[in-house]
Amino acid sequence: MCGIVGYIGKKPAFPILLSGLKRLEYRGYDSFGFFVLNKNKPFLFKKVGKISEFEQNFPNPDGEIGIAHTRWGTTGKISEANAHPHYDCQQNIFLVHNGIIENYQEIKERLIKEGHKFLSETDTEVICHLIEKYFERNLEEAVRKALREVRGTYGIAVISKKDPQKIVVARLSSPIILGINKDEFLVASDPAAIITHTRQVINLDDNEIAVLKPDGFFILKEKPLETIEWKIEEAEKGGYPHFMLKEIIEEPEVIENAIRGRLIIEEGSVKLGGLDSVSAQLREMDKLVLVACGTAHYAAMVGEYMLEEYAGLPCEVDIASEFRYRKPVVDEKTAAIFVSQSGETADTLAALREMKKKGILTIGITNVVGSTQSRETDAGVYTRSGPEIAVASTKAFLGQLATLAMLTIYLGRQSEMSLVTGKRIIEELAKLQELAREVLKKAPEIEKLAKKYRNFKNFWFIGRKYNFPIALEGALKLKEISYLHAEGIAGGELKHGPLALIDENFPTIAICPSDSVYEKMISNIQEIKAREGPVIAIATQGNEEIKKIVDDVIYIPKTLEMLTPLLSIIPLHLFAYYMAVLLGNDVDKPRNLAKVITVE
Ligand code: F6R
Repeated sequence: MCGIVGYIGKKPAFPILLSGLKRLEYRGYDSFGFFVLNKNKPFLFKKVGKISEFEQNFPNPDGEIGIAHTRWGTTGKISEANAHPHYDCQQNIFLVHNGIIENYQEIKERLIKEGHKFLSETDTEVICHLIEKYFERNLEEAVRKALREVRGTYGIAVISKKDPQKIVVARLSSPIILGINKDEFLVASDPAAIITHTRQVINLDDNEIAVLKPDGFFILKEKPLETIEWKIEEAEKGGYPHFMLKEIIEEPEVIENAIRGRLIIEEGSVKLGGLDSVSAQLREMDKLVLVACGTAHYAAMVGEYMLEEYAGLPCEVDIASEFRYRKPVVDEKTAAIFVSQSGETADTLAALREMKKKGILTIGITNVVGSTQSRETDAGVYTRSGPEIAVASTKAFLGQLATLAMLTIYLGRQSEMSLVTGKRIIEELAKLQELAREVLKKAPEIEKLAKKYRNFKNFWFIGRKYNFPIALEGALKLKEISYLHAEGIAGGELKHGPLALIDENFPTIAICPSDSVYEKMISNIQEIKAREGPVIAIATQGNEEIKKIVDDVIYIPKTLEMLTPLLSIIPLHLFAYYMAVLLGNDVDKPRNLAKVITVE
């Protein structure tokens, strides 16, 4: 998500920081900033927008120590004040941060009482003030004490004017590497930022603090030097050949980010701060409408099953481009929920504005902070999936599903959901990132399957209940990037027409975890096999029986039925990806499509 670069050595730091930040641009960002320490005049420069918009007029400050950052906003709007580096009251500590500080509100309130003045809305700024509080003479000592108080994740690089000849670096669950050269040291969140300067790196581990000085560096523990083998183009995609693969691999992390700090296990409930202002109003609602386009629409469909089953709320899901032209029956007891990765999709925004005109409560489930949707809805929840660069949406879908699951708990616990049920869903939700990692280990198997099925021209995807929308999403992904004909249908619909197409040349991907509709799915698979259609099943780990009836099986771990879509979609994203690669397509930029659809 955000990007960090730092330099300390004998060369002017600014050009090195600038080229490093530019190499991180691929990650997406909304603002950026630099701090360069120069004895006579420390230099701080922060801007909203892209580096290229300002490059002509960049100053060229002196100074051989500096840190820089590209920000993708999660806490606080997109503004210069919220851009990094952040600093303390005395303008002594300058810091860049990746990650989320979960307990920043409570720390901030405490520090304000102690007299600290905050200039931004970010969680990051509390770290600066905590370091300020503990700073005596030695920066690393103050950083160590400050970090003891924070909960969450961080990769940080810190400079102090009063302890000037060093950069202090620390990490917890947010990547940080140190670049080691003769007489100079770099720090970065991502190898792409430093690979043109050095390939000798040290990967900092969780809870480690490193101190970089012009004449050497030390970490609390001895670490081996490693060599990066990646090509520059690979480095910019995090080492993956395509953004799409990188983003699929990030799916477990997306689940983790979506739920971080939001689950209250002991209360069987969730904290969704973005809904606080409307929580009383939401309690009065007796109907929800969920509106979205494409992949986000399929996430909304999964949400419908979740919300109806566990929150007991009647739901209606519609495609934004249809909804805006219908005459939907809504009243003051209806809340409209808009799901969008970009928050800029024209049809979704138009539907949102229609609802606002009618005085309906509007809620956004959005990835991009500060997007039009997030500004125009009455309240909302950010999915925190990070920038999605590949045109075909993958990881954002997981963020939407995890957020809809939390919304279900939030609304359910306001009405009929018991504490036990709330806890049960939360416990499963908390395990999901690990289970998703298990599914990703099947990537080589799925690649083999793609090789086996690459010459087929048509595919059915079938599923029921929670996995019916997953059949739709699996088919959309395949057609979008492989240009093959693929259709998703509800298993029960097969015999109402589609079965006519089945023969040995028309394979079906059947999503059939061991859940309440498993037996029905098996009947569907048998209908297909009776007509010699090849079947690939997505089944639950341990189901050996299914091997006897289908041609191929990809196993996913067991979880709650309502959460299976977060696992069953992963093999389908991988299958579409490998098929497109094998067919030689431009995976990240499929023909005729754009990432954000800002026209009707
Ligand atoms: C499919 C895809 C699109 C988007 C749709 C909505 O892979 O990317 O179907 O899901 O255009 O976009 P957002 O979520 O930005 O509103």
